[in-house]
Amino acid sequence: MANIVLVGAQWGDEGKGKVIDYLTDKVDVVVRSQGGNNAGHTVVIGEKKFILRLIPSGILRKGKLCVIGNGVVIDPVSLWEEISELAAQGVKINSKNLLISECAHLVFPYHKIIDEQREASKGSQKIGTTKRGIGPAYGDKIARVGIRVGDLLQPEIFAAKLKTRVKDTNSLLMVFGLKPVRLKKLLAEYLEVGEKMRPLITNTVLTINKAIAAGKEILFEGAQGTFLDVDHGTYPYVTSSNTTAGGACTGSGVPPNRIDRVVGVMKAYSTRVGEGPFPTEDAEVADLMHSMGREYASVTGRARRCGWFDAVATRYAQMLNGIDELAVTNLDGLDSLPRLKVCVAYKLDGKRIEVPPTCVRQLAKCVPVYIELAGWQQPTSDARSYDELPPIAREYLQRICDLTGAALKLVGVGQSRAQTILV
Ligand code: GDP
Ligand code: IMO
Ligand code: MG
Repeated sequence: MANIVLVGAQWGDEGKGKVIDYLTDKVDVVVRSQGGNNAGHTVVIGEKKFILRLIPSGILRKGKLCVIGNGVVIDPVSLWEEISELAAQGVKINSKNLLISECAHLVFPYHKIIDEQREASKGSQKIGTTKRGIGPAYGDKIARVGIRVGDLLQPEIFAAKLKTRVKDTNSLLMVFGLKPVRLKKLLAEYLEVGEKMRPLITNTVLTINKAIAAGKEILFEGAQGTFLDVDHGTYPYVTSSNTTAGGACTGSGVPPNRIDRVVGVMKAYSTRVGEGPFPTEDAEVADLMHSMGREYASVTGRARRCGWFDAVATRYAQMLNGIDELAVTNLDGLDSLPRLKVCVAYKLDGKRIEVPPTCVRQLAKCVPVYIELAGWQQPTSDARSYDELPPIAREYLQRICDLTGAALKLVGVGQSRAQTILV
């Protein structure tokens, strides 16, 4: 199957977890290379539902190695909770199925406090973050004052670094009138969880590159989505990492010439959680999805904003990521609609444009230009092969993939592992 980078082609929550779980069957190693526990990747197997936040969605398949790469930011307490929750669901974690990069940066409780504080002070301009401290943790990394997973294994060095960070952070918290961080308690908590993680922590750059040299196949699991990329997304309404395909290389230490293919995951419609421009947002689509109990965020429970499929966005995502193949999920969400809209261009100040403007103020002014397609108005969730899908649904799929500019490879017609169609 070769080495594959999988990315979200929209605003996150495209159904990446489900597609990764499906593809993991054919690979040896699954690598997370960016983001943190802001991600929530859902995998449904039979009656069991798993929501993975930091651990790659490949963990549910036996005999696969999962790696949390250097580009991820890790809240170790949350990671340990996730490991314990998985164990309670019968998935045992050890160094045979999970390794953690010693170079990944740590998220501390003060990052979450700063995240919340920044959001509160922005008022109506807020980003709508997950409040997991992701932005402030990446901020420390880029400012070169971050503390890394490997530091946890050297208690004296860790204590000295944390002392400095807490001192600086407390002066900031004081300005906001917030309670100072208690160093002793925090130090004890992190060193304790660090000891538990010790067997899993290693130089994962070596692990992954050795696996590649040995002919093993790697799947790079993207978190978030293209338009949440800190460079290429709807800045500042983005997350703080590179969610596009290039992030897989920098976030894992694997060179670009070892990547063979890029798979893009997109919903058959669009969703976005959090603030920021969303040209095809539509109340009718949102009401439909929410009335079916769908489109509530897996981590925060927030209702996702919903809209029609936006081919202007996905075409740009195809170019940015070099998407070769597409997995289209949630086709079944559109089953009941008599007519479907697809955005093929935007109008900005009366002029037709085919590429999303990089400036959010301009993007917010864009009016979608739609084509209308017939709906299939019959259930698709029992289809198990492409031929079993209604012809009108197949036409819709082909149309959105042609507009995006890549080949259709997988279709999702339900939450469960079985409801996946290989094209
Ligand atoms: P991720 O963050 O990209 O992994 O996506 P999430 O798990 O946050 O959100 C996707 C949601 O859609 C989850 O509830 C999935 O279980 C669900 N899902 C994924 N594919 C399909 C599909 O083809 N049909 C239906 N009905 N649900 C799907
Ligand atoms: P997965 O991997 C959807 C959004 C937040 C907010 C913005 C910044 O499940 O697709 P952050 O906490 O990262 O600073 O928030 O990014 N966001 C996501 N939206 N899916 C995600 O992950 C997201 N991770 C962050 O809602 O708008
Ligand atoms: Mg998600």
